[in-house]
Amino acid sequence: MMQGARQLMKVYVTRRIPQEGMKILTEAGVCKVSVWDSDEPVPRAELLKGVAGAHGLLCLLSDRIDTEVLDAAGPNLKVISTLSVGFDHLAINEIKKRGVRVGYTPDVLTDATAELTVALLLATARRLPEGIDEVKSGGWSSWKPLWLCGYGLSGSTVGVIGLGRIGLAIARRLKPFGVKRLLYSGRMPLDALLTESDFIVVSCSLTPETQGLCNKEFFSKMKNTAVFINSSRGSVVNQEDLYEALSSGQIAAAGLDVTTPEPLPTDHPLLTLKNCVILPHIGSATYSTRGIMAELSANNLLAGLSGAAMPSELAL
Ligand code: NDP
Ligand code: DGY
Repeated sequence: MMQGARQLMKVYVTRRIPQEGMKILTEAGVCKVSVWDSDEPVPRAELLKGVAGAHGLLCLLSDRIDTEVLDAAGPNLKVISTLSVGFDHLAINEIKKRGVRVGYTPDVLTDATAELTVALLLATARRLPEGIDEVKSGGWSSWKPLWLCGYGLSGSTVGVIGLGRIGLAIARRLKPFGVKRLLYSGRMPLDALLTESDFIVVSCSLTPETQGLCNKEFFSKMKNTAVFINSSRGSVVNQEDLYEALSSGQIAAAGLDVTTPEPLPTDHPLLTLKNCVILPHIGSATYSTRGIMAELSANNLLAGLSGAAMPSELAL
């Protein structure tokens, strides 16, 4: 019994995760699991301490897994499993160099994220938060022909930047609203999409190429009546340029599920704008999706520990 316990591999989990995932890890009988048992992020010093000697690391998108963390983990580390589809928080080149495998959670969160993105688009375009505020504050004096008018999808042109799993799922959900044209961009010039779209939805991954892609020049090509939506990563947007575009009337409105930094400070200028709707990165936040993400990330981790094929391994 004691001897078996000594052979268990060490796994470090950087946050309290849905019990579906923890159950898989703890019942597997192959690893000793330590958890940063909190809903809040693990402080950096604790992460560096907790990961020491780990064979497996289950992390979140809010954990920066860089050379310092990999060094702190040391040579035992075989697998990093992230509870996310995005992997811009991982120092991929360094991880690859060390022969560490990476698991992630594509597909299982596509529907939830696409649904939230559509909800955000509608909330932004039809000014739902403003309307709700007016009802609560007594600003609703009467039905008024020109009050709280927004923009509808029927007959519109929608541009999707990043037509991957989520981008495609968003496009499919928008089509039945009567969208007339769907434009998408690969890595080609964006000009036609920017000038012709009534709604622009960003759903690409964050890469050196997409970092800061939505900047002054980008917004300057959009229609004054166009609505901008981002559910990819905050750093795809230059937020100073977005503030300028929104406050000057260069574009009509923006809805963001992701920002830089996260959380966005409560005194951030974007929060002063009525035409900017900001959500706290809740794209995949349904109970069922988060449970399935936790299961998948636990199974990825176990497969990585045992050298087996992972259900979802990131090709490095
Ligand atoms: P995919 O890899 O399926 O899609 C990403 C898409 O972005 C691909 O089509 C890719 O094209 C495209 N892309 C990459 N670079 C560029 C570029 N320079 N210009 C235009 N398009 C580009 O990933 P998912 O759809 O599963 O997820 C996308 C992203 O959504 C994640 O990386 C994550 O950041 C974010 N996300 C956010 C969530 C939230 O809660 N708000 C939830 C889940 C994900 P190519 O195939 O050619 O590389
Ligand atoms: C991801 O998975 O990358 C999202 O941002 C959170 O689900």
